[in-house]
Amino acid sequence: MKLGIIGFGHLASAFTEGVLKSDYLNSEQIMITSLTDKTKEDALQKFGIASYSTNSELATNSDYIIISVKPHLYADIINEIKDSIKPNTIILSFMAGTKLSQLEELLPENSKLARVMPNIAMAVRESLTTICPNSALTEPEISEISHLFNAVGKVITTTEENLEKISAVSSSGLGFVGYLLNAFEMASLDLGLPEKYKELISTQTFLGAVKTVQETDISSKQLSDKVATKGGSTIEGLYVLMDHKVDENIVKAVNASFNKLSQLSKK
Ligand SMILES: NC(=O)c1ccc[n+]([C@@H]2O[C@H](COP(=O)([O-])OP(=O)(O)OC[C@H]3O[C@@H](n4cnc5c(N)ncnc54)[C@H](OP(=O)(O)O)[C@@H]3O)[C@@H](O)[C@H]2O)c1
Repeated sequence: MKLGIIGFGHLASAFTEGVLKSDYLNSEQIMITSLTDKTKEDALQKFGIASYSTNSELATNSDYIIISVKPHLYADIINEIKDSIKPNTIILSFMAGTKLSQLEELLPENSKLARVMPNIAMAVRESLTTICPNSALTEPEISEISHLFNAVGKVITTTEENLEKISAVSSSGLGFVGYLLNAFEMASLDLGLPEKYKELISTQTFLGAVKTVQETDISSKQLSDKVATKGGSTIEGLYVLMDHKVDENIVKAVNASFNKLSQLSKK
């Protein structure tokens, strides 16, 4: 497989880091383009990945093309590559809010295309990646795309509507969890604990909770109930979270991200 990545920012670089760690692809199978030479030099130095000088050259030489530029550039990029894409090339768009129909409108008829919404945890092979294939992709091709992203985490293949919803919970959610981890670090410091422990305390607490829910039959709600025994210390803290409706506010935060994504899609 020859995979070309157009745009090598945060997300594409996280994908590359993860997929190379997984051994699913090697650095000779990936080529990139970017706007500046600095990004190309960094890709070569960090990952041993070479670059093309133009997006159309990349398109001519790739079996898979990942488009990972900012969404407002989608039409420019497609217009640049559309005459260079080989008939069976599979195009994967990371661009948030850019609909399959917007891309299909500009691409040659029957182009093989999927929207793919991962998150930057691809770098540590723990992304949740949502895939929405178009109707030109065959089942074996969809399965091959899933395998590619299984190399960097877990995969859900679903409708475009669900993809946008999952993106609000999971891609934006990664940022929300970062915010919560930081709050746990602040709590450690507030109790006067040494600075050097704060990250281990917060991350291991989250990891322990996640693995308990993932690997046992204890649900998230049961975990909360199990730790918060009546008359104990945890319940006192939970009352504070409940008073501030932290759960409802997280639902509101996800909705705010989803609404913004919907507005961007309409532009
Ligand atoms: N970041 C996330 O967590 C996340 C999550 C889900 C989806 N997304 C989507 O993923 C896409 C990329 O996001 P990002 O955060 O990685 O963006 P980013 O860090 O800003 O990277 C954008 C990349 O596009 C390159 N570029 C700009 N114009 C180009 C052109 N004409 N030809 C080739 N490359 C060009 C830039 O090159 P230079 O480096 O040389 O400037 C840069 O490497 C966006 O559409 C975003 O909606 C991001």
